[in-house]
Amino acid sequence: MSLREYDAYQRLSLQVVRAEGCELFLADGRAVLDLYGGHCVNTLGAGDRRLGELLSAQWRQLSFATNLIDHAPRHNFLAAFEANLPPAPGPSSGWDVFCSNSGAEANENAIKVALAATKRARVVCFAGGFHGRTAAAAAVSDKKTRAFPSAPFEVVRLPWSDAEAAAAAIDGTVGCVILEPIQSLAGVTEPSLAFLETLRAACDRSGALLAYDEVQTGNGRLGTPWASQHFGVVPDAFTTAKGAAGGLPIGLTVVRSDVAALAPADLLGSTFGGGPLVLAAAAEIARRIAAPGFLENVRAASQALRKAALRGPVESVRGAGLLLGLVIRAGHDAKAIRDALLARGVLVGTSDDPRVLRLSPPLVLEPRHAALLERALSGLSEPRPALSSPVRSQETLR
Ligand SMILES: Cc1ncc(COP(=O)(O)O)c(C=O)c1O
Repeated sequence: MSLREYDAYQRLSLQVVRAEGCELFLADGRAVLDLYGGHCVNTLGAGDRRLGELLSAQWRQLSFATNLIDHAPRHNFLAAFEANLPPAPGPSSGWDVFCSNSGAEANENAIKVALAATKRARVVCFAGGFHGRTAAAAAVSDKKTRAFPSAPFEVVRLPWSDAEAAAAAIDGTVGCVILEPIQSLAGVTEPSLAFLETLRAACDRSGALLAYDEVQTGNGRLGTPWASQHFGVVPDAFTTAKGAAGGLPIGLTVVRSDVAALAPADLLGSTFGGGPLVLAAAAEIARRIAAPGFLENVRAASQALRKAALRGPVESVRGAGLLLGLVIRAGHDAKAIRDALLARGVLVGTSDDPRVLRLSPPLVLEPRHAALLERALSGLSEPRPALSSPVRSQETLR
């Protein structure tokens, strides 16, 4: 065959034939507990019945429509999404949301609006951050991320969680300050609260827009709908993607309405963004996050996972909600532990930090799943190779 797929991923050698909730079922009959959740995408777990029924009904009712046509799924989405939002900061009366297709696109749009609204051309970002692979998104990601030969604007990259450096750098020339409220790929590294408060104050003082990339931290993952409610520091704009539609491609850029009004209306656009099918999914995700008990389950599952993970090669656990980093003891390699866990039927993620494994399971995780992790980790106190080399890849799952 002459057609090959671009070699972007070295795949795990897992033959998944079916998935349900937090479990992957393999061709050889084995089940694997999925504590990675498809990079935070599977908010409700795989194959959620209610979401499937809604999507099937929506497909039959109105499968796709140009953005020039209004439709009920858009209004249903706006109502459901609004219910989980924090009050907008500043003089704004609310938020504007723009729908696109991916996290990178959502971040590009946030930066574009910020620079247009402020009429400035500098963006502050942070070492370790990851915001996507397109031009602007890669330009503000950590230097490790392969980017275009030049950035579309001036980039100022600062050390992570260094309040002093941020206070000094954020002045009246900066249009946007973009960060992950918890850096995921870097190894689930949390900022200090003082750092976030300093960013908020510096942006208020300088007129720069504070933008949170909530592609991973949003949609209930931290046990609150958004990271701003977890930390108590609300940005001027935030973005999300991944889990926002539970498995359909989506990007959302949410901006203070008074700021959005300063940017030209024709600045943004998308063919597929905001289509009825994906918005029916996003509305259901927002309703489920708001449903009684849902976020309580995230917080309880987080506690259970933290307790279960603290054994064998795991020295400490960091992060919040169901975005957790397992810090591996010196002398152990996180990737080898990942492989050994997979051989024991548990899928976890790696990170850019060779000492940190990542957990980002579906938010419907149950206590019995934590018990499976505990069992798999027990007995892994000595570095050991994978039992049956189930993994070819040393690829870091984003
Ligand atoms: C924090 C963060 N921002 C942005 C992105 C890019 O999202 P996408 O792959 O949907 O473009 C990712 C993807 O991993 C991410 O983790």
